[in-house]
Amino acid sequence: MSDTSTTLSLDALAADARVRVAACSSLADLEALKVELFGKKGAITAQLKSLGALAPDERKAAGARINAVRDEIGAAFEVRKSELDSIELERKLAAGRIDVTQPGRGQQPGGLHPVSRTRRRIETIFRNAGFSVEEGPEVEDDWHNFEALNIPANHPARAMHDTFYFPDGRLLRTHTSPVQVRAMLRDKPPLRMIMPGRVYRCDSDMTHTPMFHQVEGLVVDDGVSFANLKSVLHEFMQQYFERDLGIRFRPSYFPFTEPSAEVDIECVFCSGAGCRVCKQTGWLEVAGCGMVHPNVLRNVGIDPERYTGYAFGMGIERLTMLRYSVNDIRLYFENDLRFLRQFG
Ligand code: DAH
Repeated sequence: MSDTSTTLSLDALAADARVRVAACSSLADLEALKVELFGKKGAITAQLKSLGALAPDERKAAGARINAVRDEIGAAFEVRKSELDSIELERKLAAGRIDVTQPGRGQQPGGLHPVSRTRRRIETIFRNAGFSVEEGPEVEDDWHNFEALNIPANHPARAMHDTFYFPDGRLLRTHTSPVQVRAMLRDKPPLRMIMPGRVYRCDSDMTHTPMFHQVEGLVVDDGVSFANLKSVLHEFMQQYFERDLGIRFRPSYFPFTEPSAEVDIECVFCSGAGCRVCKQTGWLEVAGCGMVHPNVLRNVGIDPERYTGYAFGMGIERLTMLRYSVNDIRLYFENDLRFLRQFG
């Protein structure tokens, strides 16, 4: 009796195992099934354990049958495993295949940042007019940034500069004008140079960023006049904007120049007719300038009775914005490639 039921359940078990082994679609499933059949609590293991309950004379035949099933199912496992192994290998080969006939991804050509392009453009125009290009340090001291430029402590002009100070009293230069001071201390007239570079002010909105670029100009020699200043800036604006632009000088105030002026160009958006950008005035402010103040010349050991000079300062981002019709200065510093690629 017990012999028949063992045989039946063993046959059913073997048939079921054969079907399930063949149906395994992954190595993980196959492994799980192996545990289910051959593990400590596995069905085949249970069959083997049940041998102990049989009469000794039945044990031998029953044991042989169970072992035969175990070996047969074990072999089925090996067959299925090697099938799944080769399917897995095929899959990996297909996924990792390189199609050597595909065209390459290619190189994206890089480009200069629009602010760098403008800076180079400005340098080229001035170099052609006989100016040298100089640089100075971004970390400055109070004397070069203010004092020597005729901006003493407590001068109201200091408040307009929103200076970043270091704990030791040094500062990030708020303009490129201190490079004038360094140049005049180092070289004696004639001087004819522009000084581009980064400047820093604690300020941030649509038209101000804490770091931006300026270019300073300085000419000191015998008999340098305001007329020379006007002609140089006039010529520069025509060349920079590549058109015949109206330009005007408005009286203004800077501590380091006397007389001082602000330079306006005819609005490049409405050609002077009046629009939102020029606030209906027809003019856009682009630079500050003037004749170097005698106090500044004295501070650097140049005799103001003998020499005169002019100086000017312009914002490079501002010139870039006007040339490319960009209205938010922050775009230049976000480095969004969708913006930058338009200047390639
Ligand atoms: N340093 C001034 C500023 O940052 C710009 C400037 C105005 C520079 C007049 C000059 C100048 O050399 O003559 O606002």
